[in-house]
Amino acid sequence: MASVRINPSILAADFARMADELARIANADLVHVDVMDNHFVPNLTFGPQMVERIAATSPVPLDVHLMIDEPGRWAPGYARLGAASVTFHAEAAEAAGDDLAGLAGALRAAGARAGLAINPGTPVEPYLDLLPAFDQLLVMTVEPGFGGQSFIADVMPKVATVRAALQGTDLDVWLQVDGGVTRDTIAIAADHGADTFVAGSAVFRAADPAAEIDALREIASSHAH
Ligand code: DX5
Ligand code: ZN
Repeated sequence: MASVRINPSILAADFARMADELARIANADLVHVDVMDNHFVPNLTFGPQMVERIAATSPVPLDVHLMIDEPGRWAPGYARLGAASVTFHAEAAEAAGDDLAGLAGALRAAGARAGLAINPGTPVEPYLDLLPAFDQLLVMTVEPGFGGQSFIADVMPKVATVRAALQGTDLDVWLQVDGGVTRDTIAIAADHGADTFVAGSAVFRAADPAAEIDALREIASSHAH
C-alpha cells in the first residue's frame, strides 16, 4: 500500500497555546504552517520569526505553505530557518516574474523539499513539465486564505492528471490537497491520486486530534493508489 501523509494545519489551532497544540498532533507526518501576507490572500497569519519558533518547538517537521506575494524574495529564508518543505504559489511567482524551477532549486539548496501550489482556478497542465524540479505539488481544494471552507471536488480531475503524469516515473513528488479535507472528502482525494493531506478544522476541532489524524490516515491508506 502506498504511503500517505497527514499534515494538520495549525491555522485551526489556538495561536496563544501553540506549543501545547503542536504536542497534541505529535503523530502527524508533518505540521502544515500557513503563511499569509494579506496581499496574495486577504488574511494575515505569521512570518519567519514565528515559523522559526514553531520549527524549534514542533515534534514533527514543518510543511510551510506560503500564500504570499514575491515568493522568490522570501521562500528561501523559510527553508534556511528549518522548514522541511516549503511550498509557494505558481500564481504569485509568475506575477513577480520569478523563475519557478530556479526558485525550487534554491529551496533544495537550502535543504528543503520544494513545493508548487496552484489555486482551484489555475490549470495544472502548464506545470507538468516542471515536476522533476519539485518535490511536492499542491492542488488547492479551497480558495486559499481561510480555514473551515468546503472541499471543491471540481478540482479532482487536476489531481488525477498529476497522478497520471507521475505514474511510471521515478519522481518522488508528493501530491498534496489542502482545504476542506475531512473523513468524507479524504477518500475522494485519495481515490484521485493524492497522497498528502492537509487538514485543519477536521483535526483541531476533534475531541482527540491525534485519534483524528490516525482515522484520516487509515481512510486515506485504504483508498491510496
Ligand atoms: C487555506 C489554508 C489551509 C487551511 C485548511 O488557505 O491553506 O491550509 O488551514 O483548513 P481546513 O482544513 O479547515 O479547510
Ligand atoms: Zn495551507
